[in-house]
Amino acid sequence: MIVIKTPEEIEKMANACCIVAEILKDMKAFVKPGVSTKEMEMFAEEKIISRGGIPAFKGYRGYPASICTSVNNQVIHGIPSRTRLNEGDVIGIDLGVYCDGFYGDGAVTLPVGEVSPLAKKLLKVTEEALYKGIDKATPRNRVSDISSAIQDYVEANGFSVVRAFVGHGIGTSLHEDPQVPNFGVSGQGPRLKEGMTIAIEPMVNTGGHEVSILDDGWTAVTLDGGISAHFEHTIAITDGDARILTKI
Ligand code: MF3
Ligand code: CO
Repeated sequence: MIVIKTPEEIEKMANACCIVAEILKDMKAFVKPGVSTKEMEMFAEEKIISRGGIPAFKGYRGYPASICTSVNNQVIHGIPSRTRLNEGDVIGIDLGVYCDGFYGDGAVTLPVGEVSPLAKKLLKVTEEALYKGIDKATPRNRVSDISSAIQDYVEANGFSVVRAFVGHGIGTSLHEDPQVPNFGVSGQGPRLKEGMTIAIEPMVNTGGHEVSILDDGWTAVTLDGGISAHFEHTIAITDGDARILTKI
């Protein structure tokens, strides 16, 4: 069941999403060679709480941390640890906040120091693919219009889209209907309607799209060892262009 939000509810989501956006922005200055992913989590958790939010991921289906930190060949759901970032790494940061009854969810992938031309292109294409999807998030379009726009753009740039994880509706739950895949043909799935709120989150690999899960039960890695990037926005469908809630 897809839940339509009232304007008042969307303002509450905007507030949770604003906390997400600000902390992801602060992360840009915090991420550098030598910093551990656990230190990144502590930095984010302190900020979430001081802004009146609750870390949405901690305890979600048993997930053990406040954010996800996914390095290089890790696709999503990397668990913060004592692992330190190295020059040339790419680090995916996924952050969810619960505030005043509603969730916000967003992710970025950042370069650590100077990264390879391939890594630079991967980050650029993945973020642009997210915006290609958002461009299609208008009333009367269908969910898979978002999906196909993302897949087409990624594949035109020589990369592959992860199939095993998808975007999602979001609101009073972190994950609501509909599912929002990052692949598929256009014209399928539910029709978009003003008041829907969804998280669009392409995961893009330099190699093949296949992933496997590490023994920790969470961390998704590329099967072929290629690197991966992930960008996510929570958006609201309006009567015109989508409103990006996780943007400052
Ligand atoms: N953005 C991811 C998602 O929507 C983050 C979830 S991490 C989890 O699935 F730990 F909460 F599962
Ligand atoms: Co999400």
